[in-house]
Order: sequence, then structure tokens, then C-alpha cells
Amino acid sequence: MTSTTTRATTTTRDSADVDIPWKEYLRETSTSSSTAPSPVVDAKTIAGEEEKESTTDAKGARRASSSTSSTPSKNKTPAKTRETRELFPDVPDFVYDPVRSTVESAVTAATPAYETYAPTALKAAVEAQWNAERASGYALYAGSNGGAETELGIYAAVAFYLLAKPGVLPWVFDATIARVVGAAAERRFAREDVTRGRRLGSGSFGNVFAATDARTGRALVVKIANGAEGSSQLQNAEAYINRRVARAPLVARGCASFLGAYYEVDGAASPSLVWAYEDGERTLESFLESKRFPEDLEDALGMSPSSSSSSSSYEKRVNRVAKRVMRDVLPTVAGLHDIGIVHRDLKPSNLVLMGDRFKLIDFGAACDLRSGENYDPEQGLLDPRYSPPERFIMSERTPAPPPVLAGVLAPLLWTAAQPQLFDSYSVGLILLQLCVPQMRNKNVTSPGGAFARRMEDCGYDLRKFRAETESTLGWDYSAMDVNGGFAWDLARALVTKRNAFARGRLDVGAALAHPFIASPF
Ligand SMILES: Nc1ncnc2c1ncn2[C@@H]1O[C@H](COP(=O)(O)OP(=O)(O)O)[C@@H](O)[C@H]1O
Ligand SMILES: [Mg+2]
Repeated sequence: MTSTTTRATTTTRDSADVDIPWKEYLRETSTSSSTAPSPVVDAKTIAGEEEKESTTDAKGARRASSSTSSTPSKNKTPAKTRETRELFPDVPDFVYDPVRSTVESAVTAATPAYETYAPTALKAAVEAQWNAERASGYALYAGSNGGAETELGIYAAVAFYLLAKPGVLPWVFDATIARVVGAAAERRFAREDVTRGRRLGSGSFGNVFAATDARTGRALVVKIANGAEGSSQLQNAEAYINRRVARAPLVARGCASFLGAYYEVDGAASPSLVWAYEDGERTLESFLESKRFPEDLEDALGMSPSSSSSSSSYEKRVNRVAKRVMRDVLPTVAGLHDIGIVHRDLKPSNLVLMGDRFKLIDFGAACDLRSGENYDPEQGLLDPRYSPPERFIMSERTPAPPPVLAGVLAPLLWTAAQPQLFDSYSVGLILLQLCVPQMRNKNVTSPGGAFARRMEDCGYDLRKFRAETESTLGWDYSAMDVNGGFAWDLARALVTKRNAFARGRLDVGAALAHPFIASPF
């Protein structure tokens, strides 16, 4: 709509209204001034006193006149209070009213948390922005021709961008308010609190031990960096990502439960990290290597063949157990992607059976695409056995943006480069390993092993790969063909090369709707 229309409508409406004390003023500014009206709305009006005002004219008049007399001293242009309603003359009541009351409720609900936890810098920035808007008559960016409606449109467009995946605005909330709350809630471990027990596992960069909380007797897991080059970087990244995950409860329930950190020696380059020991420590890898596959896994998951039908064929049982594991893993990985995190090291040894479900561990290689944390396009510390052919989450040609820009560019990068599809490939490989016995042979999946070589030869077309390995090597894919072959279809969509536009591989979030996962049988 043009400014002329806006102004005309404003004037008409004002004249039609009865007895609004500042009616004269509005008409005056919109006709006598060459620019658009610059109404200054009292903050209180926005905060929700409008209804009262419209019913009690006397009060309204009092407030209007008091703000009339006080504001000109603050602003160069004469300013009068104007109802927020008047800023949006073209918005019909049936839209304006519910939106207004929703906004008011949201503001009321969020204010206490904002007042308490928002950092002073954020509050100052918000206040400065608000004041600038007020002073400009709510047309700071729209300019005199646009008016408040265009201004709101500009804000809506910016908000849309900031909320687009991976979510710059949620990140700002997370990195400010939620981070402060999370840090306050995190248990502060002292060195003496953690009594180290037997070793649970070790990698090239650190060791993981069972431990006990000397104060409470609670069973813990601690991960201690081993001092190798790069180990403290991984450990710090792991601390950062674990804290981020802990602030996202729906994702956290699929991951080892992070408790806190402490330093082994004062001034160490990275802390030791502490999780709760949650009823189990067997990794999916140990089940895949078990001679008793799939019985072992069925027993552990409480799905012994007798509980379904003892006559179930081997393929059916394997298919069922694979579905069960995928149903644990996919929602967690999709949840990570939803908060802008790509794990980059999904593999059976990073899935631990805790209680009756597999949970995700080991965020040392994970990167936060919202903030750019641990994102290094050339980083090559990933496990080549489970990495997709592209090896990097984004094209190597994608430059690493400077830290501040990373946040701003995140939605563009995410949309263009689809970094989360990196994890899809690894998840697909896990599914293949669950279903195809030959894929569980370590030599087959080792770097340069039969899988890697043949997949490359087949141009990463899993159908071709299957045809070859079935006919020449007698590999057994029968567990994938059970119940209409959904497992096979899912694996094919996940274990594939990306196309020139970085697409063509199924997103883990989308995989949740795949019939193999979503159908009840
Ligand atoms: N929360 C946990 N509960 C039980 N076992 C764990 C836990 N975290 C790690 N482990 C064990 O320690 C091993 C190594 O841990 P991980 O975090 O993957 O370290 P790395 O970076 O060395 O791979 C895992 O494979 C698993 O066996
Ligand atoms: Mg690991």
C-alpha cells in the first residue's frame, strides 16, 4: 500500500472516531507536515493499557495530556501519544485484536525471565532499539513513506530469516539467557568429588572411566583428555556441545546425561567431563560384534523372540531389532540437527545402551552451525569408516566465515550446504551393519576395505553395490527386504552420494517419516 493511502485512511478513521483527545493533533501532523506523522507512543500504551483507555475517556485524556506535555522536552518534534491501534489503520479488528492480545500475553509471560536473566548488554540494545523506533514514529527502517505497517513487515522478514534453520535467534536466546540459567544449574565438581574407577573405553584423544561421586555415592562416567595434540580442543568442544544439548531437554534425553566438569590440575587446557552412569555401558559396536547377534541385542532391549513369536525367521528378527535401534537413534540425531548441531562421528561405538535404549555419546567432533563452534571446513579428524564420501560437512570450497559472521550467515550456509546430511550417511551405514552380516566384519568397513572400494567403484549407488556383492560375494540382504523392503529403501536413501547441489541424500529428520520408522509394524 502507498503512503498516501495510509495517511488518508488514518485521517478518515480519526475523524470518524468520537472524542479522542489527540484527534486534532493527528490531523494536524498528517496534513501540515510534509513528512509522515511521527507519533510517539507511550511505552505503557504498548504494554497493554489500551483497552482501559478506550473505555474510560477521562483517564485516557489525562494520560494523553501528561505525555503530551512531557515528551516534547525529550524529542525535537512535537510528540503526542497515539494508540497502537492507530499505527495499523488498515489491519481489520478481527486480525488486530487476537494478535494484540497474543503479543501482550507473550510479553507478560516472558518479562520476568527477561528481567532476571537477560544480560545487561542485551537489555541495553533492546531498549536503545525501542527508543530509536519510538523516536522515529515506528518507521526507523521503513522511512516516512512506509509507516508502522511496513516497519513491522521488515521486522517480520528479519525474524523469519533469524528463525530459519539452524536458527540464529534461538541461538541468541540460548547463548545468553539459557546459557546463564544452565551454568547456574550445573553441578560444580571439585577434583576430590570424583573417585575414578575402571576404564570404560579409550580413544586417541582421551580415556573414559567409571567413577563415583565421593559426596553422594552416585555412579558417574568421566572423560579425561590424554594430552595428545588436539585433545584439549576436542574436549573443550565436547564440553560446549554437551552443555548446549543439556539445555535442549528433548534432545538431551537421547544423549548421555551431562552433569558438569572439573579440572584435574589448575589451569589445564581443558576440563574433565562428567556424566551420570546410566544403567549400562555396552556400545552398539559390542552387540554388532557379538557371536550371539541378534539374540544378545534382543535380550538387552527386552525384545526376546519369545515375546513376539519364537517362530520368527532370522531375517524378521534382525529387521525388528534394526528398526528398534533406528527408532532410538534417528529422533536424537534429528533433534541435534534441529538445534543446529551436526554430530559428525556417528558410529556404533558412540551409541551406548543405557537402560532399554541407545543413547548418543561423544560430541568431540560435533559442530554447532549456529555459532560456528568447532566448525572447521578442513578439519579431518573424523572416523573415515563412517564418513560420507564428501568427507567434510560442507564443500571444501566453502570458506570458514569469521566467528561473528558465522551466526549471521548460518541460515544461508545451512540452506545452501545442507551440512546435516553428513550424519545421514553414517546413520545409513549403521542400518546396513545391523541388517547385513558381512557389513559387520571390521575388515569390510575399514578405510580402504571392501565397502569403501566397491562403493566408490559403484559411484555410491547402493543398488549397484548390492547387486554386485550379492552376486559375486553372496552377501545377505534378506533382513532388509522383510515387510515390503522398507529397511532397504531407507538405507538406499541415506547411503548415497550428494548431487552437485549438495542434495539427494535423505535428511535424518525426514527419515523419521519413512515407513520403516513411522509404520507401526
Ligand atoms: N556415558 C557413558 N556411559 C557408558 N560408557 C561410556 C559413556 N561414555 C563413554 N563410554 C565408553 O567410553 C568409550 C569412549 O567414549 P567416547 O566418548 O566415545 O570417547 P572417544 O572420543 O575416545 O571415542 C565409549 O565407546 C564407551 O564404551
Ligand atoms: Mg567415541
